[in-house]
Amino acid sequence: MISDQLKDKVVLVTGATSGMGKAIAETFARHGASLLLSGRDTGRGKSLVASLKPVNDNVVFVPGDLSRAEDNEKLVAEAVTRFGRINLLSLNAGVLGLGAVTELSIASWHRTLDTNLSSIFYLCKYAIPKLLLHNGSSIIINASIAAFRSFPNHPAYCASKAAAVALTKQMALDYGPAIRVNALCPGPVDTPLLQDSAAAFDHPETAVDRARDATLLKRLGQPQDIANLVLFLASEQASWITGATFTIDGGIMNR
Ligand SMILES: NC(=O)c1ccc[n+]([C@@H]2O[C@H](COP(=O)([O-])OP(=O)(O)OC[C@H]3O[C@@H](n4cnc5c(N)ncnc54)[C@H](OP(=O)(O)O)[C@@H]3O)[C@@H](O)[C@H]2O)c1
Repeated sequence: MISDQLKDKVVLVTGATSGMGKAIAETFARHGASLLLSGRDTGRGKSLVASLKPVNDNVVFVPGDLSRAEDNEKLVAEAVTRFGRINLLSLNAGVLGLGAVTELSIASWHRTLDTNLSSIFYLCKYAIPKLLLHNGSSIIINASIAAFRSFPNHPAYCASKAAAVALTKQMALDYGPAIRVNALCPGPVDTPLLQDSAAAFDHPETAVDRARDATLLKRLGQPQDIANLVLFLASEQASWITGATFTIDGGIMNR
């Protein structure tokens, strides 16, 4: 453990089995939080818990499909059973659902919207009553620059991320001052999801390299870059920040 900055915090992290959610889980574990980690892949979830054990024993994995309301309800109930409270949500579960509108199946549209947007509504619906019981509660939603910029063959993804930003701001209004609600909008971050998104572009084999070169800083984001921002937003240092949207993109939106 590198600090006990979060030792009194119970944090629920979704999308914890991969990419940014995993880096956020590892970072929060190193800062002493009690963690309830979510994902669908039990093998990856359990191996993450095992890898964190030497630094932090208060980490539990609860498998579930967050596109389903009942799995979100179960996650919240499990957090309260295991740790007695919830102080912070870091919501990262997401899928791409690629395909232009005329090609995209109705099932894929719903799966993408349910995972990327409805899951935020479901989890917040069940968790907010618990968050309201404690001072300093906070919700940090992982949206995307796709909320502001269109990408080819990403209609469900772009729509879900724009709505996630709108939902962030709306919840900040309804639940301030008790709960701070903020969104981050990453640019291209080196995760499996970014690699999968290449299929939606012309010349998929060079799409990730082109995204990297389009950043002003000439590198892809690393999951740890995002975890650092989430750690800040979770901290006391961010106590006057709510309803805000943070672009973290190596400058790609500045082109
Ligand atoms: N990578 C980028 O360039 C980028 C840029 C901007 C925003 N984002 C956003 O950042 C977030 C994290 O993405 P990432 O890049 O880290 O992707 P990733 O490595 O593919 O991780 C996605 C995570 O979401 C979980 N997940 C997907 N569907 C789920 C479901 N139905 N129920 C529960 N969990 C589910 C996955 O868990 P299982 O596989 O175990 O189910 C996995 O842990 C996403 O919301 C994504 O849209 C990514």
